[in-house]
Amino acid sequence: MLRVEGDVLYIEDTSTVDLAREYGTPLYVYSENTIKEKIAEIRAAFTSKYPDTHAAYACKAFCTPYLCKLLEREGLWLDVVSGGELYTAIRAGFPGKRIEFNGNNKSRDELVMALEYGVGRIVVDNVAELATLDALCRELGVTADILFRITPGVMSDTHAYITTGKRDSKFGIPLDDNIMFPAIRRAIESDALRFLGFHFHVGSQLHAPDAHIAALEVALDLIKETRDRFGYVVSDFNMGGGFGIRYTNQDHPLPLSGFVDPVMERLAEFCAQHELKVPHVSMEPGRFIVGEAGIQLYTVGAIKEIPGIRTYTAVDGGMSDNIRPGLYGARYEAVIANRASEAKDHTVAVCGKCCESTDILIDSLPCPAPREGDILAVLSTGAYGYSMASNYNKLPVPAVVVVNGKESRLIVRRQSYEQMTINEIV
Ligand code: LLP
Repeated sequence: MLRVEGDVLYIEDTSTVDLAREYGTPLYVYSENTIKEKIAEIRAAFTSKYPDTHAAYACKAFCTPYLCKLLEREGLWLDVVSGGELYTAIRAGFPGKRIEFNGNNKSRDELVMALEYGVGRIVVDNVAELATLDALCRELGVTADILFRITPGVMSDTHAYITTGKRDSKFGIPLDDNIMFPAIRRAIESDALRFLGFHFHVGSQLHAPDAHIAALEVALDLIKETRDRFGYVVSDFNMGGGFGIRYTNQDHPLPLSGFVDPVMERLAEFCAQHELKVPHVSMEPGRFIVGEAGIQLYTVGAIKEIPGIRTYTAVDGGMSDNIRPGLYGARYEAVIANRASEAKDHTVAVCGKCCESTDILIDSLPCPAPREGDILAVLSTGAYGYSMASNYNKLPVPAVVVVNGKESRLIVRRQSYEQMTINEIV
């Protein structure tokens, strides 16, 4: 997806320097063909390889009408977690039947919106939501297909801020017998709900399948217990997302099959052993689809050398368009896009323009001595950049462009000062 021609970094067959000139910076840029390749990997490792499966893109990673439409054409489902994400999907005409609604505190209004649009699955996160949903379905005269998100009580090997499966978690229904089984009973007995099965999501940016496999054992126990206690065989199982990607040289992502195959094999083995029908299996990859497909372009501004300490190279965005370094200590690689073939004989710290000392995008970047006006491309920024952007320091949210070969097209306009402040009453 990236290559250097002359001195210039290209994304597909498009010069990043030309993109910066045409659309301005800061700028989010996506390679459409990389997104499609990732989807093809999901097909090869999961949905085409195993019958009765689907993949729902966790659109929190990057949620825009453009992507919803692309995924719809590619046959994926969508996982949304808020009225806003659902609204985006609806605007894009995404079919309700292929939408799953996750989230640990869905409001009544959000649930009504989801039911009225006819979403395919609601992943119930807690016992209170179960009661609300049951009542709402009766009120609206509809039935909802539901899964239970469980808290499997497993640790995952990733940043503590993005582990989600451990027992002490705000996500999911705890496994305690006196909580889980009455909830299952209620879901089975309700004629307004169709109880499909279980869901977990154990964490993000994982490079090994251990947490998925540990959580699967918990889910398998529940599948069997549900049959033994209630004579009810669930039809669905969702293994969440969390599949790691390459941000820097230090990341060695596991191929998707490294997560999928052990889960599918164990599931088949368990079902055969206990005479259960193998359920329909789904997953929710987020960053896997868009993370490596995106880069961010900035223009270099102030360069400040602190003798004997470091050289700060400031760019025209920062934590307002990529909070991940500040929030998780996330690491990225970057290239001076207009001088991409020059020797990297300097080391600089790339900082943003926000009024925070933690607004450091890259603490130690090897590069040629930067100059004001250079274009800096930060790589693998396609997930959780635009979607976590803020207006901190009243910085407008950057534009988003998608590239296909030599063609580029704007898919999100740059926010103007007027749009940014439109709701503020003077
Ligand atoms: N399914 C559920 C229920 C989730 O909560 C998440 C992510 C996913 C799927 C997708 O995870 P992925 O495949 O993208 O790892 N802002 C953080 C990530 C938070 C993810 C929260 N849930 C980051 O920038 O690393």
